[in-house]
Amino acid sequence: MTSLAAELSAIAKAAFADEGLSESFGHVQESDRPDMAQFQCNGAMQAARAAKMNPRAIAEKIAARLKADPIFSKVEIAGPGFINLDVTDAALAERAGAMAKDTRLGAPRTGEGKTAIIDFGGANVAKPMHVGHLRSSVIGDSLQRIFRANGWHVVSDVHLGDWGLQMGQLISEIGHRGIAPIYFDSDFKGPYPEQSPVTMEDLEEIYPAASAACKADPARLEEARKATADLQAGRPGYRALWEHFFAVSRFGLEREWGSLGIHFDLWKGEASVEPLIAPMIEDLKARHVTEESEGALVIPVAEEGDKKEMPPLILVKSDGAVLYGTTDLATIVDRVKEQNPDLVLYVVDQRQHLHFEQVFRAARKAHINGHAVLEHSGFGTMNGTDGQPFKTRAGGVMKLYDLIATMTDEADKRLVEKGLAKDYPADERADIAKKVGIAALKFADLSNFRLTDYIFDLDRFVRFEGKTGPYLQYAAVRIQSILRKAKEEGHASSAPVVRSPEERSLALQLLALPVKMQAAEDNRAPNILCEYAFELAQKFSRFYSEHHILSEADAELRAARIGLCEVTLATLAKVLDLLGIEIPARM
Ligand code: ARG
Repeated sequence: MTSLAAELSAIAKAAFADEGLSESFGHVQESDRPDMAQFQCNGAMQAARAAKMNPRAIAEKIAARLKADPIFSKVEIAGPGFINLDVTDAALAERAGAMAKDTRLGAPRTGEGKTAIIDFGGANVAKPMHVGHLRSSVIGDSLQRIFRANGWHVVSDVHLGDWGLQMGQLISEIGHRGIAPIYFDSDFKGPYPEQSPVTMEDLEEIYPAASAACKADPARLEEARKATADLQAGRPGYRALWEHFFAVSRFGLEREWGSLGIHFDLWKGEASVEPLIAPMIEDLKARHVTEESEGALVIPVAEEGDKKEMPPLILVKSDGAVLYGTTDLATIVDRVKEQNPDLVLYVVDQRQHLHFEQVFRAARKAHINGHAVLEHSGFGTMNGTDGQPFKTRAGGVMKLYDLIATMTDEADKRLVEKGLAKDYPADERADIAKKVGIAALKFADLSNFRLTDYIFDLDRFVRFEGKTGPYLQYAAVRIQSILRKAKEEGHASSAPVVRSPEERSLALQLLALPVKMQAAEDNRAPNILCEYAFELAQKFSRFYSEHHILSEADAELRAARIGLCEVTLATLAKVLDLLGIEIPARM
């Protein structure tokens, strides 16, 4: 199924070609002035510029050809040569009917045969997740859903931070506390216990203590560095401890992300590419990609025409330690070998932009990226009302489950205010409140373009009115309940008809889905779908308030309107799913 805009473009392209002009001018898009037309084609002006002709004259010729096509109910020339187009109601209804029958709802297939790795989440083992990780998870998850829906083979990778100094800090703190002496006994030959000596909660307490100790005492910092180096060099007891840290952290993280409906295909991290680092460095040295600089091994990445300073990527420090850039480079080697991707998207805080620019340049210079395009999709920060990165009420760092609890409580209050979910069983009610709270959080995050900073405004996010997640859930629940009633009353449904302005505007909105999904992919921008979902809900609401549906006496008309409700619900549900938002069965 091609999109309506693509279908109209094909007609206009043929018209340009028949006039001996390049068909590239035939692009048809949604009108900028919906009050004047449904679609527009600006090609006559472009063609006129290219051929040094009068744009109006070209527009007349193209319009004359378009008028011959029965799909158009209006072909008009405006201003210097815009061609304004309307489509007949019959054509809209027919395409809305076809969309209803297509399980993919006309989604584009641009990703067919292509693989994208989406690197997001990026939490650090043993360190609490912060707001940046939350944004990365919410945006990254929506992008993985969008890319998949558009036909891509997507591999999502959490890329945990599990190889840095925090590991050595934990190990040496545990050593000091004497919690698990066998891991420090160099005479012990294993096997080490299967049960972790520490829980996730222990790590949450041990890590800040370890980090404070290292700040206060240089000797402790030195110990932690040594432990990190020993771990990275493969000391068995430390490695065994690390395995426990990783496993308990993964368990906790999977639960937290899982409760947000966020899942990853791969649970790799910095440590998983450790075996690739030494051979990679040997290879890069042999091919003279690297240079020595003040005792360190670096890859110079400055290029002619750089406007700002571009420091070299440091692979190995003078003390022999490898860095964040080294593991990121080795991860590219790993990904090219394992998945051979067409695209690798890094959904990471914009403040790491320089880092990624260095890594990408180094990878291209070293020819290790296969045919993959490497791209950083950065994002801005979620701030508190004080303009600083958001913290929970308790102050300190944000914990994801605290945040979910806060959102759920607030959602529950709103349900009471609205008189929703009244008299439902307690567990169903709690489930609804949680779904609403999460929808509020995700929608608020996704509805701004990702690079824009925004302020965490709980009160606004959880409202059932305005551009919010809860409003859209409520809109979907309302259509669900209309359709449930239709079934109970034994009403049939049929292909939609389009007669009234409200039906027309709703059908046009539905048929715009493929174009919006494509734009969301192209710009790595879920906010386009947030806007789309909001407009869809509003257009449905206008249709609903102007028309009888279940109470329509004419059975054929009633069936057609029920049919229109069905595609609207399917479309809204699909878009909400692409945003990672669940719809409660009732509210
Ligand atoms: N762990 C990193 C952090 O907390 C994010 C990792 C992002 N992904 C990557 N391939 N570098 O900042």
